[in-house]
Amino acid sequence: MNHAIFSLDDRRALVTGASSGLGYHFAKVLASAGAHVVLAARREHLLEKRADDIRAGGGSCSVIGLDIADGTSIATVTESLGAIDILVNNAGIVREAPALDQGEADWDAVIDTNLKGMFLLATAVARGMRDAGKGGSIINIASILGLRQASGVLPYAVSKAGVIQLTKSLALEIARFGIRVNAIAPGYLDTELNSEFWQTDAGKAMLRRIPQRRLGQLDDLDGPLLLLASDASAYMTGSVLTVDGGHVVSTL
Ligand SMILES: NC(=O)c1ccc[n+]([C@@H]2O[C@H](COP(=O)([O-])OP(=O)(O)OC[C@H]3O[C@@H](n4cnc5c(N)ncnc54)[C@H](OP(=O)(O)O)[C@@H]3O)[C@@H](O)[C@H]2O)c1
Repeated sequence: MNHAIFSLDDRRALVTGASSGLGYHFAKVLASAGAHVVLAARREHLLEKRADDIRAGGGSCSVIGLDIADGTSIATVTESLGAIDILVNNAGIVREAPALDQGEADWDAVIDTNLKGMFLLATAVARGMRDAGKGGSIINIASILGLRQASGVLPYAVSKAGVIQLTKSLALEIARFGIRVNAIAPGYLDTELNSEFWQTDAGKAMLRRIPQRRLGQLDDLDGPLLLLASDASAYMTGSVLTVDGGHVVSTL
């Protein structure tokens, strides 16, 4: 197999939510594959630190402040950025509470960040890709909570189901411009934020329902990310890759 097909040399990638978690990891992976990566989020001081680390590892990157929930901020960023070949639409938030305790402010914050922002940024970047005439790859970060249900995260689950339909609908409309739109739906990942939960009885019970009987690690996402970002997925658009150890196909 020709592994050069995964090379991102001479590509410019924009990763949202790159100040922490998955987004920072994605930025490192894309930079190590040869892309120049623009790291975007609200906390610019954190982005600068992340960028220093990527450069220290030999990667090429820059940073830009972005509030994905604000259409004006998205317009400013996309106008100033120039050509983008790869967009990783990753920024997202969750509000955890029983459905009957979630209010308008919770709904608006989650939907504006996870869905409206993703729509506005994807379409703005896609217009630039169309005008540049070189095609491109848009990767939306969904969640298995967009495919199945869990208690306590209703607006989040709705937003991620929306991300999946956004992915498919946009893929349909812009394939003619050579722009591919795909989604990654991660399962439960082992992160600092949730490490204590997995020690509880509820956490251990959930682990037993994952067919592979383990949590995902950040680097479990590397292969799917590089596949979708690169020419290796030239004939893929509108796809949703679950990366969840089989969680969504768990037995009833
Ligand atoms: N962790 C998991 O197990 C898991 C599983 C499935 C899916 N996901 C998805 O993966 C993505 C990243 O999650 P994570 O776990 O890495 O979360 P995280 O560590 O909390 O990071 C979220 C990122 O989003 C950015 N962000 C939040 N609101 C923003 C806004 N209004 N404008 C711009 N950036 C904003 C944050 O940066 P600033 O605060 O600096 O703006 C931060 O960099 C999310 O879409 C999430 O739904 C995560």
